[in-house]
Amino acid sequence: MLPAPSFGHLVIAWTDVRLLPGDTAAEWVRSLPDDEQARFAKYRHAPSAHEFLVGRLLARRWLAALTGTAAAGIALVEGPRGRPAIAAPATSLQFNLAHSGGVVACILSDGREAGVDVEYLDRRPVPADLWHRFCAPSEIADIEAQPLDARQHRFLTYWTLKEAYLKARGLGIAVELADVAFSVTGLHPTVAFRESLDGTPADWAFGMFEAGPRHLISWATPQAPGTPRPAVDIHFVAVDTLDPAS
Ligand SMILES: CC(C)(COP(=O)(O)OP(=O)(O)OC[C@H]1O[C@@H](n2cnc3c(N)ncnc32)[C@H](O)[C@@H]1OP(=O)(O)O)[C@@H](O)C(=O)NCCC(=O)NCCS
Repeated sequence: MLPAPSFGHLVIAWTDVRLLPGDTAAEWVRSLPDDEQARFAKYRHAPSAHEFLVGRLLARRWLAALTGTAAAGIALVEGPRGRPAIAAPATSLQFNLAHSGGVVACILSDGREAGVDVEYLDRRPVPADLWHRFCAPSEIADIEAQPLDARQHRFLTYWTLKEAYLKARGLGIAVELADVAFSVTGLHPTVAFRESLDGTPADWAFGMFEAGPRHLISWATPQAPGTPRPAVDIHFVAVDTLDPAS
């Protein structure tokens, strides 16, 4: 069973959905509530539907085990700007999900917000105008100082950190991403906020890791001044263990 988070301790579980057969997905989705079944049915691209399905199964199974509730009793609602939240049972646990290129990540925290993002390193090559649009001048300079074949990796590192931060705050993509400027040259990523995004860099903790050879995962969480950086436990979950019938 996956462990429980605590205030000073976040847990991230990730899984690879690429081996999930289509007929298994069609069977598993019937365990989800009607609104989630309807969302699953709307995806035109089967791999994206599978990622959505597995994210919801992973979050529900984990939350059910930790709250002593049946998975069907975990009610998730869509909050402001699309952020999912736990409507029932009453709990101080919080979760966030991300999916990309066949990998799904779920972060669980207790009594604090947390955001997670994943990117597939072999996604379509990212054109330079994308980092000029979304990155701060210091980030652009760092990306362009990398050898050509390392630029996509560095851009996606910044991208996942930015999205993890936005998701921890429950903001949408509408914010000015170039105003959250990361530095990834030290032991841990650090941030500076520019212009449209106010905040105190010391009030945040960030981290990143590689999930298998081709995916990057970043996380973000607020950190009260003077408190230690949270510990983060990372767990791989085999997708077949998420069978809702098991
Ligand atoms: C939430 C957002 C910031 C990230 O979405 P995304 O990168 O498309 O997708 P991810 O897989 O990382 O995250 C999706 C999950 O985030 C969560 N989420 C959605 N809105 C959220 C919000 N406002 N705050 C926190 N979490 C949110 C949901 O759990 C969602 O998964 P689910 O619908 O299966 O439950 C979204 O607002 C967005 O629009 N992103 C733009 C993506 C983009 O332009 N990418 C280009 C990369 S180079």
